[in-house]
Amino acid sequence: MSTCLHTLHVDLSTPSSDRSYPILIGRDLLADESIFADILEGRDVILVSNDVVAPIFAARVRGALGSRRRVTEVILRDGEANKTMAAVGDILDAALADRHERGAVMVALGGGVVGDITGFAAACYLRGIDFLQLPTTLLAQVDSSVGGKTGVNHPQGKNMIGAFHQPIAVLIDLQTLHSLPAREFSAGIAEVIKYGLISDIGFFDWLEQSASRLLAREESVLAEAIERSCAVKADVVSADEREGGVRAILNFGHTFGHAIEQVQGYGRWLHGEAVACGMVMAARVSAARGQVPRDFVDRLVALLGRFELPVTPPEDMSVADLMASMAGDKKVVEGRIRFILLAQPGNAVIVDDVSAAEIESACFDRANLD
Ligand SMILES: NC(=O)c1ccc[n+]([C@@H]2O[C@H](COP(=O)([O-])OP(=O)(O)OC[C@H]3O[C@@H](n4cnc5c(N)ncnc54)[C@H](O)[C@@H]3O)[C@@H](O)[C@H]2O)c1
Repeated sequence: MSTCLHTLHVDLSTPSSDRSYPILIGRDLLADESIFADILEGRDVILVSNDVVAPIFAARVRGALGSRRRVTEVILRDGEANKTMAAVGDILDAALADRHERGAVMVALGGGVVGDITGFAAACYLRGIDFLQLPTTLLAQVDSSVGGKTGVNHPQGKNMIGAFHQPIAVLIDLQTLHSLPAREFSAGIAEVIKYGLISDIGFFDWLEQSASRLLAREESVLAEAIERSCAVKADVVSADEREGGVRAILNFGHTFGHAIEQVQGYGRWLHGEAVACGMVMAARVSAARGQVPRDFVDRLVALLGRFELPVTPPEDMSVADLMASMAGDKKVVEGRIRFILLAQPGNAVIVDDVSAAEIESACFDRANLD
C-alpha cells in the first residue's frame, strides 16, 4: 500500500487553456497501480529511464502500469554527457517503431537528465504528447521535474536546445532517495536551501534546525523539505510560466554556478555543488551591497558545510574566467549579465549591474573568505 503524504497543485490555468497538474509526494507511489490508473487511464506508455535507475526501479513501475496497456521501454545511457539530441532520437525512434499514437504518454523515470530528455522528446513527438515525471533524485524532485523546462545540451552550451512542456503529473516516491549516493543527495539539498533563501526565510531557519535529520534521510523531514520546496517552485512557475520575469529568481546561484561548471568542464562538480558555491557568491555580493548581514552569509556557509557542499570557487578559477563564461550564458539580456541577488534574507531580486570588480572583491579575496 502506498501512502501519499502531500499533494500540491501547479496552477497553470488561463481563460484559454489549462496545463495545471498535481505533485504527489509519498511512500511507494511508484508501485501503486491505482495511482497510475488514475493519471494514465488506459493510455499506452513510452517508459524512459537509464541504465542506473532502471535496474532499481523499472520493475515496480512496469508492474504498476499493469498489463492492459502497451509499454515501450527505452533505456538511455546514464550521465549528463548523454543529454543529447541523439538520446532524444533514440526515444523518438522507439516510439515510431512501435507506432505510438498521440494518446500515448512518455514517462520519465530517473533524475533530471532523464526528465529533461524525455520531456523534450514528448514535446517533439507527433508535435507534442503528454508526459509524466517520476523523479528519482532529490534535485529532480524539488526542481527539474516541476515547471516544464525540458531540453538537451549542445557542444555550444548546456540546455541550449529545448522547449517548455509541462508534465501531466509529478509522482515523488520518497523510497527512491534511499539508494541515492550521498553526493547526489547533497547536490539536491543545495536547491532545497535555495528556496529558503529566495522566498521563505522561515524554511531556511527550519532547514538549519533539521539538518541532522535530513542527513539521516528521515522520511517525514524529507517529505516536508520536498513539499515546501515544490510549493515555492509551483508558486513561482504559476506566476511566470515562461520566465518572462519573476521566474528568474529560481536561478539564484545559477549564473555563477553554470559558469563554474563550464569553466571547470562539466562533471567535475555536480550541478547542485556548483549552485551551492554560486549561492554563496551571490550572497557575498548581496552582503557587500549591505542587503544582507555578513553573519547571514556565515550561516549559509555553515549550513551548506553540513552537507559537504563547496562554498568557495575552485582554486584554479579566476574572475576573468568566470566573467567570460557568464557572458555566453542564456541569462545575458541585451549584453548585460542578469544576476539574482538577495534583497534581504528570504527575498531575491534580479539585477544587471554587478561588475567584475565587485565580484572579485566579494568572492575572490581568498585569504579573507573563511
Ligand atoms: N528542467 C529544469 O527545470 C531543470 C532544473 C534543474 C536541473 N535540471 C537538469 O537536471 C540535470 C541534473 O539532474 P540530477 O541531479 O537529477 O542528475 P542525474 O539525472 O544525472 O542523476 C544523478 C545520478 O544519480 C543516478 N540516480 C538517479 N536516481 C537514483 C536513485 N534513486 N538511486 C541511485 N541513483 C540514482 C542517475 O542515474 C545519475 O547517475 C541537469 O542536466 C540539469 O541541467 C533541469
